[in-house]
Amino acid sequence: MRYAEPYKIKMVEPIRLISRPEREARIREAGYNLFALRSRDVFVDLLTDSGTGAMSEEQWAAMMRGDEAYAGSDSFYRLQEAVESITGYHWVIPTHQGRGAEQCLMPQLIARKGMYVLGNMHFDTTRAHIQLAGGRPVDLVIDEAMETETYHPFKGNINLEKLRAFILEHGAQNVAAIIMTVTCNSAGGQPVSMANIKAASAIAREFHIPFLFDTARYAENCYFVKQREQGYADKEPIDIARELFSYGEGLMMSAKKDALVNIGGLLAFRDEEMYTKAAGLVVPFEGFLTYGGLAGRDLEAMATGLMEALDTDYLASRIGQVAYLGEGLRQAGIPIQQPVGGHAVFVDAAKFLPHIPAEQFPGHALAIEAYIAGGVRGVEVGSLMMGRDPETGEQLPSDFEFLRLAVPRRTYTNNHMDVVVDALAAVWQRRDSVRGVCFTQEPKILRHFTAKFGWTDVPAVR
Ligand code: F0G
Repeated sequence: MRYAEPYKIKMVEPIRLISRPEREARIREAGYNLFALRSRDVFVDLLTDSGTGAMSEEQWAAMMRGDEAYAGSDSFYRLQEAVESITGYHWVIPTHQGRGAEQCLMPQLIARKGMYVLGNMHFDTTRAHIQLAGGRPVDLVIDEAMETETYHPFKGNINLEKLRAFILEHGAQNVAAIIMTVTCNSAGGQPVSMANIKAASAIAREFHIPFLFDTARYAENCYFVKQREQGYADKEPIDIARELFSYGEGLMMSAKKDALVNIGGLLAFRDEEMYTKAAGLVVPFEGFLTYGGLAGRDLEAMATGLMEALDTDYLASRIGQVAYLGEGLRQAGIPIQQPVGGHAVFVDAAKFLPHIPAEQFPGHALAIEAYIAGGVRGVEVGSLMMGRDPETGEQLPSDFEFLRLAVPRRTYTNNHMDVVVDALAAVWQRRDSVRGVCFTQEPKILRHFTAKFGWTDVPAVR
């Protein structure tokens, strides 16, 4: 039997496909930067799955009982109860979003300048907060994560041999923490297996290194464990989550993903000691410990969403939709990261546009073309996002050149996914004529958000 969404739609937001000449004009006016487009000029917006999903009737209803107290609101205690029941972590702090949690935690984890924070693959903001706190982020994801055409059920796994070797080489006293990102966004929304988490956690314990999770998409990770890992097929996602969290000491979370809210984040810890440390920076940066930069109603939406995201039918339809998009692209002959991850399809732009060198940003050229072809907005994940070495000014090498198409939760139908496939297929038909891009304006910090671009003059010959 085919799946269908386990919900009916009771409120809609109109969207409109503007004409091709209008799309060409809008993207030109935006300096060929998709972040500079107005969302009203986008038809299917796959820029991110973060904070862009639809809330349920239960979440909207819960918001009505938001207790807007500065300290100790009922809404905070409902959130705390939900987090503890899923994770077993009692010590909960809300934050305004994921990077707020990172900003408060990293300076407390990294006791000395130059300490390492190891992980499967840190997200950009995590990486930035590790560096801002004087630490050094290190990615130790398995090699298969970089091979887009090789099937591996858990491409988000950390390389356990490399993890152990790194600790032995650099000394456990120089490792501030190990952070497992579930699912691993930067590798394509790829899941981490329970066996890998368990083994990495044992290594952390052996060397007395704190073991934490970045849980932005943990429910999706649990669903993949249920689908792909032996012994989990009959377990409920919530029980899989409970086991997963049992291997760690705490988490940071962007609630804008798997807590099904439009804004929010979390810190949660097993022990009071780590909580007390992190709490020190929450008050100056985020707000009092029981609201963390959010309104009581936001805490209610989060508490409800955290539970909804673990519903098996919801996860089947959510991950099924992303797989549907991936399958459509694959059938059109378009190279993608396989298997498809939980929240997004990563199109392999280096293979799609092999005549465009990395320094002319094939992923970004493809993003512009997809917008012009069908009003679809995705985002480059590759050399452009990687940026330059802050010391030498040299472009940093990127292991891949992707166009990420991230699917918001409970927001679009499969007809929208078909439109995305049609747009990419149209570009695929004329791929030889797609040109690379160059900067007309390049900001120094986080350049991809605000840079302006032009086309390179001549399409390079294959
Ligand atoms: N960790 C992961 C794994 C993320 O994917 C994100 C955000 C963050 C942390 C930071 O959270 O945005 O709430 O401050 N990812 C978004 C994305 C922005 O588009 O993938 P935030």
